[in-house]
Amino acid sequence: MSGTLAGKVALITGSTKGIGRAIARELAEAGAKVVVSSRTEADVARTARELDGSGSGAAHGIPCDVRDPEACRRLVEGTVERFGGLDILVNNAGLGRFATIQEMDPEDWDIQLRTNLDGVFHVSRAAVPHLVAGGGGWIFNIGSLAGRNAFSGGVAYNASKFGLRGMTEAMMLDLRDEGVRVTLIMPGSVNTHFFGSDPDPEGGWKLQAEDISRVVLDLLAFPDRALPSKVEIRPSRPPNE
Ligand SMILES: NC(=O)c1ccc[n+]([C@@H]2O[C@H](COP(=O)([O-])OP(=O)(O)OC[C@H]3O[C@@H](n4cnc5c(N)ncnc54)[C@H](OP(=O)(O)O)[C@@H]3O)[C@@H](O)[C@H]2O)c1
Repeated sequence: MSGTLAGKVALITGSTKGIGRAIARELAEAGAKVVVSSRTEADVARTARELDGSGSGAAHGIPCDVRDPEACRRLVEGTVERFGGLDILVNNAGLGRFATIQEMDPEDWDIQLRTNLDGVFHVSRAAVPHLVAGGGGWIFNIGSLAGRNAFSGGVAYNASKFGLRGMTEAMMLDLRDEGVRVTLIMPGSVNTHFFGSDPDPEGGWKLQAEDISRVVLDLLAFPDRALPSKVEIRPSRPPNE
């Protein structure tokens, strides 16, 4: 087996589409064994089939709704059982439902906080003992510039991503003495399924999912002594409003 990540095992949540899928594909192409996951079983099976053998790595699918702590535990244990350990965790699963405080539906509030914030806690909590045991593990949390810049209509999304920023910094401090690096990646607009439809053909000015996977792959090449703990990335030329 060849590739810069040969022998590494990676788990990516929300990896049937968009940013998560691009990260899973590039990790597999670099030789890692990857576990792909989302809530939708058929998408998980198809994505694992498509990525298995797409490079020198391997892919396996395990469905998981990250809102469910027990499913998160099974996801991590299933990964370790299948590939013998865990080196890289990418907490990517997330969604956005945008409405003002006056109009935000409590169910939409709940799904965003439980997916974008609680989900990261559940999966990370299950994964940390394995990342520590392997030595040199890495957690990437996919945050957002919305974790720093609030906007009208972002009451739930901003809350989840501001929360994730604080949580990620605390995790980084908890884990660095254990040899596990933790990084928050904060993208601006990325052309994915995030806004409820297929990627926008007019969205060439936006970041592409591959721009975010490139950040992950580049960071993984840093020497052990270096911990790039936060990356902001935005479109270079947004249209003038
Ligand atoms: N697109 C942007 O402009 C942008 C900007 C900054 C940050 N981000 C962040 O990037 C991450 C990925 O978003 P994306 O743009 O790639 O969106 P996307 O194309 O809609 O993909 C989201 C993925 O997450 C999965 N997912 C959603 N809810 C889940 C749950 N409860 N449990 C497990 N998987 C779940 C989806 O599959 P199922 O629905 O089948 O479960 C899908 O695979 C999110 O955390 C988002 O907040 C996006």
